[in-house]
Amino acid sequence: MKVLGIESSCDECAAAVVEDGKKILSNVVATQIPFHEIYNGVVPEIASRMHTEWISGVVKTALSDAGCRPEDIDAVSATAQPGLLGSLLVGLSFGKAFAYSLDKPFIAVDHMLAHLYAPMLSEQVDYPFLGLLVSGGHSIICRVDDFDSITVLGTTIDDAVGEAFDKVAKFYGFGYPGGVYIDRHAKRGDSNAFKFPMPNLYKGEHRYDVSYSGLKTAVINQIEQFRQLDEQGQPAAMSPENIAASFQKTAIDILLRSLYRAVEDTGLTTVVAGGGVAANSYLRHCLVERHDLRCLFPPLDLCGDNGAMVAGLGYKYLDRGDRSPWTVTASARVKAFKRRYP
Ligand code: KG4
Ligand code: ZN
Repeated sequence: MKVLGIESSCDECAAAVVEDGKKILSNVVATQIPFHEIYNGVVPEIASRMHTEWISGVVKTALSDAGCRPEDIDAVSATAQPGLLGSLLVGLSFGKAFAYSLDKPFIAVDHMLAHLYAPMLSEQVDYPFLGLLVSGGHSIICRVDDFDSITVLGTTIDDAVGEAFDKVAKFYGFGYPGGVYIDRHAKRGDSNAFKFPMPNLYKGEHRYDVSYSGLKTAVINQIEQFRQLDEQGQPAAMSPENIAASFQKTAIDILLRSLYRAVEDTGLTTVVAGGGVAANSYLRHCLVERHDLRCLFPPLDLCGDNGAMVAGLGYKYLDRGDRSPWTVTASARVKAFKRRYP
């Protein structure tokens, strides 16, 4: 079964064709990063307008790269939640219209479950396992019982981990998206140059939760000193590399502390990571060092948003006989994914 997967939840306009939930026949990601870079963050209005302009060309390219005509596709899958509403609606509406016009089945999928499926495009994993879903909008530690069944154990009580990387990078002028630049700087820095605070969350319902507002504030508070020293010539310790390395270490250690608590409490020893922050080299290094755990990561090109994970997850539902109604719509948030829900 060849599934066309469409992803437009944020600033990547993406489409892919995947066969039987495993074989990637094409994977096209048109990134809007250069258009949002000047604002140091995603501008929702620009994002949805660009998706509208690009979606048709991106899908056409995904089909031709896969050597398929539209009628060779057996089903269509698109991201419906969570994300930027205007952006989600573009891919979802396009996907529904495409499937309807060809009289093919359509399935709407969750973006975070799709991230979780990304490593499973190439690896076989038995359920249950622990999921670590880390992106620009979410930080989720969950128990995964099936491709469509997760129980959120911990989440962020304020900012998401990727958001913290992006905000710190924005303040220091490192570049956008922040995670990529911080990871790069950190490779040449000393992670012990600064001691940043870890949040104190370990009780009751917060046992597996994470928090980034304290760390973000502490790192940003260094900036005045950073700027003054910049004018006078920086002493070695106050380098962008050291700030990046010290921040990155603390940000990832916060995640790992909660994840390892979940490992201890549940006895689950397989961890599957997904989302943009799963590309982080320090996170990958730490988890690979845990020889008592089996840790799976998506390949680097499938950590960020892409259509292949959407097509792969879509196949699982379609294979079970599920279909979404034509009335299915988009949703910006998923209540269970956030501790604070406005
Ligand atoms: O999954 P994703 O592409 O989009 C969302 O669903 O949010 O994740 C984007 C996030 C951004 O916050 C970006 O800074 C972060 O992933 N990111 C990284 C790295 N590469 C991307 N964070 C840390 N280290 C990286 N190497
Ligand atoms: Zn994502």
